[in-house]
Amino acid sequence: MKIIYILFLVFTFGFIFNSISAKNEHPGKIIFYSVKGKYGTCNTCHTNGDTALRWNMETMSVDPEEGRKIPSLKGIGERKDPEQIERSIKLMQKLFEFKLTDEQIKDLVDYISTL
Ligand code: HEC
Repeated sequence: MKIIYILFLVFTFGFIFNSISAKNEHPGKIIFYSVKGKYGTCNTCHTNGDTALRWNMETMSVDPEEGRKIPSLKGIGERKDPEQIERSIKLMQKLFEFKLTDEQIKDLVDYISTL
């Protein structure tokens, strides 16, 4: 009987812990991975914030060789100030047709600055 009780406790706490950590996910991170523009989410191009790929303007797809280099967002918080990052995100919004509120853009700036 004891073992069942222990298993029950392990599962319950595991479940509670999981839901707490999911809630602690940065709102900007959720937007980065889930809000879609015309060609997918931010993560489609900036995979995990870091990629060596390019955006091919002719085929409108991610490409290993042809096109505009997709910059890594790693360490961007140290290289650029929040206003510059915000301007880049607004450019993304225009180029790739994202629908983002000012609040979401702020969350994205916050999140990207931590990468
Ligand atoms: C269709 C591919 C694509 C998508 C989708 C995309 N990006 Fe980009 N991103 C690029 C490319 C290409 C550049 C480089 C633009 C340039 O050359 O000026 C860039 C540049 C940036 C920069 C500037 C980086 C720097 O070093 O100055 C930021 C910040 C950025 N993107 C954030 C985002 C965010 C946030 C999203 C989601 C809302 C997003 N991007 C969605 C392709 C994409």
